[in-house]
Amino acid sequence: MIKLSPSILAADFKNLSDNIQKADQAGAQYIHIDVMDGDFVPSISLGVPVIQSIRSATDKIFDVHLMVSNPERYIADFVKAGADIITVHAEACKHLDRTLNFIKQNGVKVGVALNPSTPLSALDYVLDLVDMVLIMTVNPGFGGQAFIAGMYDKVTRLRDMIKDKGFNTDIEVDGGITQDNLDKIIEAGANVIVAGSSIFQGDIKENITSFNNIISKY
Ligand code: DX5
Ligand code: ZN
Repeated sequence: MIKLSPSILAADFKNLSDNIQKADQAGAQYIHIDVMDGDFVPSISLGVPVIQSIRSATDKIFDVHLMVSNPERYIADFVKAGADIITVHAEACKHLDRTLNFIKQNGVKVGVALNPSTPLSALDYVLDLVDMVLIMTVNPGFGGQAFIAGMYDKVTRLRDMIKDKGFNTDIEVDGGITQDNLDKIIEAGANVIVAGSSIFQGDIKENITSFNNIISKY
């Protein structure tokens, strides 16, 4: 089952809960929330208080993507604020195994993200711990960037790796996803689709309907 996870980084922050409700009603399964700390990535976006206050806007899954150095410091706070899935970057954790176990112990789904240049071998000893792998298809830090074409092959190699191990780990892709490359990334193996600017720029409902029309073919 393929899920759409609109990234609110591209939403109108003045009308954030309205934009989230529009995405919810139009048929998004997840809400993707990008947390940036100005250290792991250049930008600063939003944090725990914002998540707490938008939690009542929707029942949809809060898919929280932490682009934060040493994220273990904040896991408990994000769980308390209402995160359902917490994804940390392999590159941002000194003790990745410990951090992933800690997320699991907090009772939420566990995700691990890899930057475009990080090899899949970073997953060799942690794949059994995670519910989802996030393959970054742009360098993290900003919305509206162009998809990096080499990531199709990375997604397919990850899909094969997961299959070989007999797991059913979700594969999420994030960055530069549009209606034009959606088929190709799904065919490569992705089943959780993040999209920011191509959902929140223009008519949210129309964009989600168009995305879901493509998704429903699979
Ligand atoms: C990038 C973020 C993405 C971003 C995607 O660092 O992780 O979630 O919002 O935005 P688009 O879809 O515009 O590339
Ligand atoms: Zn993201």
